[in-house]
Amino acid sequence: MLTKNSRARRAAYPSELRDIMSIDEAERSRTWLSHWEQLNHGPTPLRNLPALASSLNIAQLRVKDESVRSPLGSFKALGAPIALVRLILRIYPERNLDPLALIDGKYADLLKDFTVISATDGNHGRALAAAARSFGCQCVIVLHANVSKEREDAIAAYGARIVRIAGNYDESVEEAARLAAANHWTVVSDTSYEGYQDIPRDVMQGYGAIAAEVLAQANVSPGQPSPYTHVFLQGGVGGLAAGIASYFWEYFGENRPKFIVVEPVQADCLYQSALQGRATTATGSVDSVMAGLACGETSPLAWRFLESSVDAFMTISDDDAVTAMHLLAGRQGDDIAVVAGESGAAGLAGLAVLRASEALSAETDLDASSRVLVINTEGATAPSVYQELVGESHESVLARQAAWLAR
Ligand SMILES: Cc1ncc(COP(=O)(O)O)c(C=O)c1O
Repeated sequence: MLTKNSRARRAAYPSELRDIMSIDEAERSRTWLSHWEQLNHGPTPLRNLPALASSLNIAQLRVKDESVRSPLGSFKALGAPIALVRLILRIYPERNLDPLALIDGKYADLLKDFTVISATDGNHGRALAAAARSFGCQCVIVLHANVSKEREDAIAAYGARIVRIAGNYDESVEEAARLAAANHWTVVSDTSYEGYQDIPRDVMQGYGAIAAEVLAQANVSPGQPSPYTHVFLQGGVGGLAAGIASYFWEYFGENRPKFIVVEPVQADCLYQSALQGRATTATGSVDSVMAGLACGETSPLAWRFLESSVDAFMTISDDDAVTAMHLLAGRQGDDIAVVAGESGAAGLAGLAVLRASEALSAETDLDASSRVLVINTEGATAPSVYQELVGESHESVLARQAAWLAR
Protein backbone atom coordinates (compact mmCIF):
# COMPACT_ATOMS: atom_id res chain seq x y z
CA MET A 1 0.00 0.00 0.00
CA LEU A 2 1.15 3.52 -0.77
CA THR A 3 -0.04 6.93 0.29
CA LYS A 4 1.30 10.15 -1.13
CA ASN A 5 1.89 12.76 1.54
CA SER A 6 0.05 15.96 0.70
CA ARG A 7 1.91 17.77 3.52
CA ALA A 8 5.34 17.21 1.92
CA ARG A 9 6.98 20.56 1.21
CA ARG A 10 9.60 21.67 -1.27
CA ALA A 11 11.13 24.60 0.54
CA ALA A 12 14.25 25.52 2.48
CA TYR A 13 14.84 23.52 5.67
CA PRO A 14 12.77 25.35 8.31
CA SER A 15 14.67 27.12 11.07
CA GLU A 16 12.43 25.61 13.77
CA LEU A 17 13.63 22.17 12.66
CA ARG A 18 17.24 23.29 12.34
CA ASP A 19 17.11 24.31 16.02
CA ILE A 20 16.43 20.63 16.80
CA MET A 21 18.61 18.79 14.26
CA SER A 22 21.24 20.33 12.04
CA ILE A 23 24.14 19.38 9.82
CA ASP A 24 26.49 21.20 12.25
CA GLU A 25 25.42 19.05 15.19
CA ALA A 26 25.46 15.90 13.04
CA GLU A 27 29.07 16.71 12.12
CA ARG A 28 30.01 17.20 15.78
CA SER A 29 28.44 13.83 16.64
CA ARG A 30 30.29 12.23 13.76
CA THR A 31 33.66 13.58 14.86
CA TRP A 32 33.20 12.31 18.41
CA LEU A 33 31.88 8.95 17.25
CA SER A 34 34.82 8.35 14.94
CA HIS A 35 36.85 7.78 18.12
CA TRP A 36 34.65 4.92 19.35
CA GLU A 37 36.40 1.56 19.21
CA GLN A 38 33.21 -0.22 18.15
CA LEU A 39 32.96 1.62 14.83
CA ASN A 40 34.96 0.42 11.86
CA HIS A 41 37.30 3.04 10.51
CA GLY A 42 36.15 5.22 7.59
CA PRO A 43 32.85 5.46 5.70
CA THR A 44 30.73 2.40 4.96
CA PRO A 45 30.73 1.35 1.28
CA LEU A 46 28.28 2.84 -1.21
CA ARG A 47 27.70 -0.14 -3.48
CA ASN A 48 26.74 0.32 -7.12
CA LEU A 49 24.33 -2.36 -8.38
CA PRO A 50 24.00 -1.80 -12.16
CA ALA A 51 22.55 -5.22 -12.98
CA LEU A 52 19.80 -4.87 -10.38
CA ALA A 53 19.17 -1.29 -11.53
CA SER A 54 18.72 -2.53 -15.06
CA SER A 55 16.34 -5.30 -14.02
CA LEU A 56 14.30 -2.71 -12.08
CA ASN A 57 14.46 -0.43 -15.13
CA ILE A 58 16.02 2.54 -13.35
CA ALA A 59 19.18 4.47 -14.27
CA GLN A 60 21.14 3.84 -11.08
CA LEU A 61 20.86 1.94 -7.82
CA ARG A 62 23.23 2.59 -4.94
CA VAL A 63 23.19 0.77 -1.61
CA LYS A 64 24.78 2.38 1.42
CA ASP A 65 25.97 -0.69 3.27
CA GLU A 66 25.58 -0.17 7.02
CA SER A 67 26.08 -3.87 7.69
CA VAL A 68 29.79 -3.12 7.95
CA ARG A 69 29.49 -0.02 10.10
CA SER A 70 30.53 -1.90 13.19
CA PRO A 71 30.88 -5.38 14.65
CA LEU A 72 27.46 -4.57 16.15
CA GLY A 73 26.04 -5.22 12.68
CA SER A 74 23.76 -2.23 12.09
CA PHE A 75 23.50 1.55 11.67
CA LYS A 76 22.19 1.71 15.24
CA ALA A 77 25.84 1.84 16.32
CA LEU A 78 25.66 5.54 15.32
CA GLY A 79 22.77 6.43 17.63
CA ALA A 80 22.96 5.07 21.17
CA PRO A 81 26.64 5.88 21.84
CA ILE A 82 26.34 9.52 20.82
CA ALA A 83 23.14 9.91 22.84
CA LEU A 84 24.96 8.48 25.85
CA VAL A 85 27.92 10.84 25.40
CA ARG A 86 25.65 13.87 25.19
CA LEU A 87 23.54 12.68 28.12
CA ILE A 88 26.57 12.27 30.38
CA LEU A 89 27.90 15.71 29.34
CA ARG A 90 24.51 17.19 30.32
CA ILE A 91 24.41 15.36 33.67
CA TYR A 92 27.85 16.56 34.79
CA PRO A 93 28.09 20.10 33.36
CA GLU A 94 30.35 21.31 36.17
CA ARG A 95 32.99 18.67 35.45
CA ASN A 96 33.80 19.85 31.94
CA LEU A 97 34.18 16.29 30.71
CA ASP A 98 36.15 15.71 27.52
CA PRO A 99 33.85 13.75 25.14
CA LEU A 100 36.73 11.84 23.56
CA ALA A 101 38.08 10.76 26.96
CA LEU A 102 34.54 9.75 27.90
CA ILE A 103 34.29 7.55 24.79
CA ASP A 104 37.64 6.03 25.72
CA GLY A 105 36.32 4.98 29.15
CA LYS A 106 38.50 7.47 31.06
CA TYR A 107 35.61 8.41 33.39
CA ALA A 108 34.66 4.85 34.28
CA ASP A 109 35.16 5.55 38.02
CA LEU A 110 32.73 8.44 37.92
CA LEU A 111 30.17 6.41 35.95
CA LYS A 112 30.37 3.00 37.61
CA ASP A 113 27.05 3.39 39.45
CA PHE A 114 25.27 5.22 36.63
CA THR A 115 22.69 2.91 35.00
CA VAL A 116 20.99 3.33 31.65
CA ILE A 117 18.01 1.29 30.48
CA SER A 118 16.15 0.80 27.23
CA ALA A 119 13.62 -1.40 25.51
CA THR A 120 14.74 -2.74 22.15
CA ASP A 121 13.97 -4.96 19.18
CA GLY A 122 17.64 -5.86 19.21
CA ASN A 123 19.87 -3.41 17.41
CA HIS A 124 19.46 -0.29 19.57
CA GLY A 125 19.89 -2.32 22.75
CA ARG A 126 23.01 -3.96 21.45
CA ALA A 127 24.53 -0.58 20.58
CA LEU A 128 23.56 0.87 23.96
CA ALA A 129 25.02 -2.11 25.83
CA ALA A 130 28.28 -1.80 23.90
CA ALA A 131 28.48 1.96 24.54
CA ALA A 132 27.76 1.52 28.26
CA ARG A 133 30.52 -1.05 28.50
CA SER A 134 33.03 1.19 26.67
CA PHE A 135 32.22 4.24 28.81
CA GLY A 136 32.07 2.29 32.08
CA CYS A 137 28.42 2.57 33.12
CA GLN A 138 25.75 -0.07 33.82
CA CYS A 139 23.11 -1.11 31.31
CA VAL A 140 19.74 -2.86 31.57
CA ILE A 141 17.91 -3.95 28.41
CA VAL A 142 14.20 -4.85 28.32
CA LEU A 143 13.20 -7.38 25.65
CA HIS A 144 9.71 -8.25 24.49
CA ALA A 145 8.50 -11.79 23.85
CA ASN A 146 9.39 -11.88 20.13
CA VAL A 147 13.05 -10.89 20.39
CA SER A 148 15.00 -14.04 19.52
CA LYS A 149 17.40 -15.75 21.93
CA GLU A 150 20.12 -15.11 19.37
CA ARG A 151 19.56 -11.35 19.59
CA GLU A 152 19.34 -11.55 23.41
CA ASP A 153 22.72 -13.31 23.58
CA ALA A 154 24.30 -10.70 21.33
CA ILE A 155 23.21 -7.98 23.77
CA ALA A 156 24.15 -9.90 26.91
CA ALA A 157 27.63 -10.43 25.42
CA TYR A 158 28.25 -6.72 26.10
CA GLY A 159 27.52 -7.16 29.81
CA ALA A 160 23.97 -5.75 29.85
CA ARG A 161 21.43 -7.13 32.32
CA ILE A 162 18.48 -8.53 30.39
CA VAL A 163 14.86 -8.20 31.54
CA ARG A 164 12.45 -10.29 29.48
CA ILE A 165 8.72 -9.46 29.43
CA ALA A 166 5.77 -11.43 28.04
CA GLY A 167 4.27 -8.52 26.07
CA ASN A 168 5.12 -6.70 22.82
CA TYR A 169 7.56 -3.89 21.95
CA ASP A 170 5.35 -1.08 23.22
CA GLU A 171 4.89 -2.88 26.54
CA SER A 172 8.66 -3.28 26.81
CA VAL A 173 9.00 0.50 26.39
CA GLU A 174 6.55 0.97 29.28
CA GLU A 175 8.39 -1.55 31.44
CA ALA A 176 11.70 0.22 30.82
CA ALA A 177 10.12 3.52 31.93
CA ARG A 178 8.68 1.85 35.06
CA LEU A 179 11.99 0.24 36.04
CA ALA A 180 13.84 3.50 35.44
CA ALA A 181 11.49 5.43 37.72
CA ALA A 182 11.62 2.78 40.44
CA ASN A 183 15.44 2.48 40.47
CA HIS A 184 16.59 5.99 39.50
CA TRP A 185 17.99 4.72 36.22
CA THR A 186 18.02 6.77 33.02
CA VAL A 187 16.10 5.71 29.92
CA VAL A 188 18.18 5.97 26.72
CA SER A 189 15.52 5.29 24.13
CA ASP A 190 15.53 5.77 20.37
CA THR A 191 11.89 6.82 20.42
CA SER A 192 10.40 10.00 21.87
CA TYR A 193 7.29 10.53 23.93
CA GLU A 194 5.75 13.43 25.78
CA GLY A 195 8.38 15.13 27.90
CA TYR A 196 11.15 12.90 26.52
CA GLN A 197 12.89 14.32 23.47
CA ASP A 198 16.55 15.21 24.05
CA ILE A 199 17.89 11.65 24.00
CA PRO A 200 15.95 10.44 20.92
CA ARG A 201 16.97 13.68 19.18
CA ASP A 202 20.63 12.86 19.85
CA VAL A 203 20.11 9.29 18.63
CA MET A 204 18.57 10.52 15.35
CA GLN A 205 21.26 13.15 14.94
CA GLY A 206 23.87 10.40 15.08
CA TYR A 207 22.31 8.78 12.00
CA GLY A 208 23.10 11.95 10.01
CA ALA A 209 26.60 10.49 9.57
CA ILE A 210 25.16 8.17 6.92
CA ALA A 211 23.89 11.10 4.85
CA ALA A 212 27.16 13.00 5.29
CA GLU A 213 29.14 10.04 3.98
CA VAL A 214 26.78 9.46 1.05
CA LEU A 215 27.24 13.05 -0.12
CA ALA A 216 31.01 12.92 0.29
CA GLN A 217 31.11 9.62 -1.63
CA ALA A 218 29.13 11.20 -4.47
CA ASN A 219 31.57 14.17 -4.52
CA VAL A 220 28.71 16.63 -4.11
CA SER A 221 29.43 20.16 -3.00
CA PRO A 222 26.98 22.78 -1.75
CA GLY A 223 24.84 24.24 -4.51
CA GLN A 224 25.05 21.14 -6.70
CA PRO A 225 21.96 19.04 -7.41
CA SER A 226 21.22 15.86 -5.51
CA PRO A 227 22.95 12.82 -7.02
CA TYR A 228 19.76 10.85 -6.23
CA THR A 229 16.22 11.46 -7.37
CA HIS A 230 14.77 9.08 -4.74
CA VAL A 231 15.89 7.92 -1.29
CA PHE A 232 14.12 4.92 0.28
CA LEU A 233 14.14 4.87 4.09
CA GLN A 234 12.81 2.00 6.15
CA GLY A 235 10.81 2.99 9.22
CA GLY A 236 10.46 1.59 12.71
CA VAL A 237 9.59 4.55 14.95
CA GLY A 238 10.89 6.94 12.26
CA GLY A 239 14.25 7.95 13.74
CA LEU A 240 16.45 6.70 10.91
CA ALA A 241 14.25 8.35 8.31
CA ALA A 242 14.16 11.66 10.22
CA GLY A 243 17.92 11.71 10.83
CA ILE A 244 18.72 11.18 7.15
CA ALA A 245 15.88 13.17 5.56
CA SER A 246 16.65 16.21 7.73
CA TYR A 247 20.31 16.17 6.67
CA PHE A 248 19.49 15.95 2.95
CA TRP A 249 16.75 18.55 3.33
CA GLU A 250 19.04 21.08 5.01
CA TYR A 251 21.72 20.39 2.39
CA PHE A 252 19.61 20.56 -0.80
CA GLY A 253 16.71 22.73 0.40
CA GLU A 254 13.85 22.78 -2.09
CA ASN A 255 15.90 20.59 -4.46
CA ARG A 256 16.00 17.72 -2.03
CA PRO A 257 15.44 14.20 -3.40
CA LYS A 258 12.09 12.45 -2.97
CA PHE A 259 11.90 10.45 0.25
CA ILE A 260 9.84 7.26 0.43
CA VAL A 261 9.35 5.58 3.81
CA VAL A 262 8.86 1.80 3.84
CA GLU A 263 7.34 -0.24 6.70
CA PRO A 264 6.02 -3.76 7.33
CA VAL A 265 2.28 -3.84 6.69
CA GLN A 266 1.78 -5.25 10.22
CA ALA A 267 3.68 -2.32 11.81
CA ASP A 268 2.45 0.64 9.77
CA CYS A 269 2.60 3.42 12.37
CA LEU A 270 4.25 5.94 10.01
CA TYR A 271 1.86 5.10 7.18
CA GLN A 272 -1.08 5.58 9.56
CA SER A 273 0.46 8.84 10.81
CA ALA A 274 0.53 10.09 7.21
CA LEU A 275 -3.15 9.19 6.77
CA GLN A 276 -4.15 10.91 10.01
CA GLY A 277 -1.76 13.86 9.82
CA ARG A 278 -0.31 13.24 13.30
CA ALA A 279 2.00 10.79 15.05
CA THR A 280 -0.12 7.72 15.73
CA THR A 281 -0.11 3.96 16.17
CA ALA A 282 -0.01 0.95 13.84
CA THR A 283 -3.12 -0.96 12.89
CA GLY A 284 -1.60 -4.44 12.52
CA SER A 285 -0.18 -7.11 14.82
CA VAL A 286 3.22 -5.33 15.03
CA ASP A 287 4.91 -8.65 14.49
CA SER A 288 7.10 -8.96 11.42
CA VAL A 289 10.14 -10.82 10.19
CA MET A 290 11.59 -7.30 9.94
CA ALA A 291 12.26 -7.23 13.70
CA GLY A 292 13.86 -3.77 13.70
CA LEU A 293 10.81 -2.26 12.00
CA ALA A 294 8.23 -4.00 14.20
CA CYS A 295 7.25 -0.84 16.11
CA GLY A 296 3.69 0.11 16.91
CA GLU A 297 4.07 3.80 17.72
CA THR A 298 5.54 6.65 15.74
CA SER A 299 8.13 8.77 17.53
CA PRO A 300 6.42 12.20 17.76
CA LEU A 301 9.76 13.99 17.45
CA ALA A 302 10.68 12.03 14.32
CA TRP A 303 7.23 12.79 12.93
CA ARG A 304 7.89 16.55 13.13
CA PHE A 305 10.58 16.02 10.47
CA LEU A 306 8.84 13.38 8.40
CA GLU A 307 5.43 15.02 8.08
CA SER A 308 6.76 17.74 5.80
CA SER A 309 9.64 15.97 4.05
CA VAL A 310 8.50 12.46 3.11
CA ASP A 311 6.77 12.34 -0.27
CA ALA A 312 5.20 8.90 0.12
CA PHE A 313 4.70 6.25 2.80
CA MET A 314 4.31 2.62 1.84
CA THR A 315 3.98 -0.82 3.40
CA ILE A 316 5.50 -4.12 2.31
CA SER A 317 4.96 -7.74 3.26
CA ASP A 318 7.46 -10.02 4.98
CA ASP A 319 7.78 -11.90 1.67
CA ASP A 320 8.77 -8.67 -0.09
CA ALA A 321 11.58 -8.19 2.43
CA VAL A 322 12.82 -11.75 2.02
CA THR A 323 12.81 -11.38 -1.78
CA ALA A 324 14.95 -8.25 -1.40
CA MET A 325 17.37 -10.10 0.91
CA HIS A 326 17.81 -12.63 -1.90
CA LEU A 327 18.30 -9.90 -4.51
CA LEU A 328 21.05 -8.31 -2.43
CA ALA A 329 22.69 -11.65 -1.67
CA GLY A 330 23.23 -11.54 -5.41
CA ARG A 331 23.26 -15.08 -6.67
CA GLN A 332 21.81 -13.79 -9.93
CA GLY A 333 23.20 -11.02 -12.08
CA ASP A 334 26.68 -9.63 -12.07
CA ASP A 335 26.51 -7.27 -9.10
CA ILE A 336 28.48 -7.47 -5.87
CA ALA A 337 26.79 -9.57 -3.15
CA VAL A 338 25.57 -7.63 -0.09
CA VAL A 339 24.53 -9.20 3.23
CA ALA A 340 21.25 -7.52 4.17
CA GLY A 341 19.25 -8.57 7.20
CA GLU A 342 15.45 -8.62 7.30
CA SER A 343 15.06 -4.91 8.13
CA GLY A 344 18.14 -3.97 6.13
CA ALA A 345 16.58 -5.07 2.84
CA ALA A 346 13.28 -3.25 3.37
CA GLY A 347 14.18 -0.11 1.40
CA LEU A 348 15.08 -2.14 -1.66
CA ALA A 349 11.91 -4.20 -1.16
CA GLY A 350 9.88 -0.98 -1.32
CA LEU A 351 11.58 0.05 -4.56
CA ALA A 352 10.97 -3.38 -6.11
CA VAL A 353 7.28 -3.29 -5.15
CA LEU A 354 6.86 0.14 -6.75
CA ARG A 355 8.72 -0.85 -9.92
CA ALA A 356 6.52 -3.92 -10.31
CA SER A 357 3.51 -1.62 -10.79
CA GLU A 358 3.22 1.01 -13.50
CA ALA A 359 0.64 2.89 -11.48
CA LEU A 360 2.73 2.99 -8.28
CA SER A 361 5.84 3.97 -10.25
CA ALA A 362 3.91 6.81 -11.86
CA GLU A 363 2.60 8.00 -8.48
CA THR A 364 6.14 8.22 -7.14
CA ASP A 365 7.78 9.53 -10.34
CA LEU A 366 9.98 6.45 -10.67
CA ASP A 367 11.09 5.74 -14.23
CA ALA A 368 14.04 4.67 -16.34
CA SER A 369 15.89 7.89 -15.52
CA SER A 370 15.62 7.52 -11.71
CA ARG A 371 18.78 7.42 -9.59
CA VAL A 372 17.90 5.67 -6.35
CA LEU A 373 19.61 5.37 -2.97
CA VAL A 374 18.64 2.62 -0.54
CA ILE A 375 20.23 1.95 2.82
CA ASN A 376 21.08 -1.53 3.96
CA THR A 377 20.62 -0.79 7.64
CA GLU A 378 21.77 -4.15 9.00
CA GLY A 379 23.70 -7.27 8.13
CA ALA A 380 22.92 -10.73 9.46
CA THR A 381 22.18 -9.51 12.99
CA ALA A 382 20.39 -12.82 13.61
CA PRO A 383 22.62 -15.21 11.61
CA SER A 384 20.37 -18.26 11.88
CA VAL A 385 17.34 -16.28 10.67
CA TYR A 386 19.44 -14.99 7.76
CA GLN A 387 20.51 -18.48 6.77
CA GLU A 388 16.98 -19.80 6.99
CA LEU A 389 15.52 -17.00 4.88
CA VAL A 390 18.26 -16.74 2.26
CA GLY A 391 19.21 -20.40 2.14
CA GLU A 392 22.89 -19.51 2.49
CA SER A 393 24.97 -18.45 5.48
CA HIS A 394 26.08 -14.83 5.68
CA GLU A 395 29.69 -16.05 5.76
CA SER A 396 29.18 -17.72 2.39
CA VAL A 397 27.62 -14.54 0.93
CA LEU A 398 30.55 -12.54 2.31
CA ALA A 399 32.98 -14.98 0.68
CA ARG A 400 31.27 -14.37 -2.68
CA GLN A 401 31.47 -10.63 -2.00
CA ALA A 402 35.21 -10.89 -1.32
CA ALA A 403 35.72 -12.92 -4.51
CA TRP A 404 33.80 -10.25 -6.49
CA LEU A 405 35.94 -7.47 -5.01
CA ALA A 406 39.14 -9.39 -5.77
CA ARG A 407 38.42 -10.02 -9.42
C1 LIG B 1 18.04 -2.68 11.00
C2 LIG B 1 17.09 -1.57 11.27
N1 LIG B 1 16.69 -0.80 10.25
C3 LIG B 1 15.83 0.23 10.44
C4 LIG B 1 15.34 0.51 11.71
C5 LIG B 1 14.34 1.62 11.86
O1 LIG B 1 14.82 2.68 12.64
P1 LIG B 1 13.80 3.64 13.41
O2 LIG B 1 13.16 2.85 14.49
O3 LIG B 1 14.68 4.73 13.92
O4 LIG B 1 12.81 4.11 12.40
C6 LIG B 1 15.73 -0.26 12.80
C7 LIG B 1 15.24 0.01 14.16
O5 LIG B 1 15.53 -0.69 15.10
C8 LIG B 1 16.64 -1.33 12.58
O6 LIG B 1 17.07 -2.11 13.59
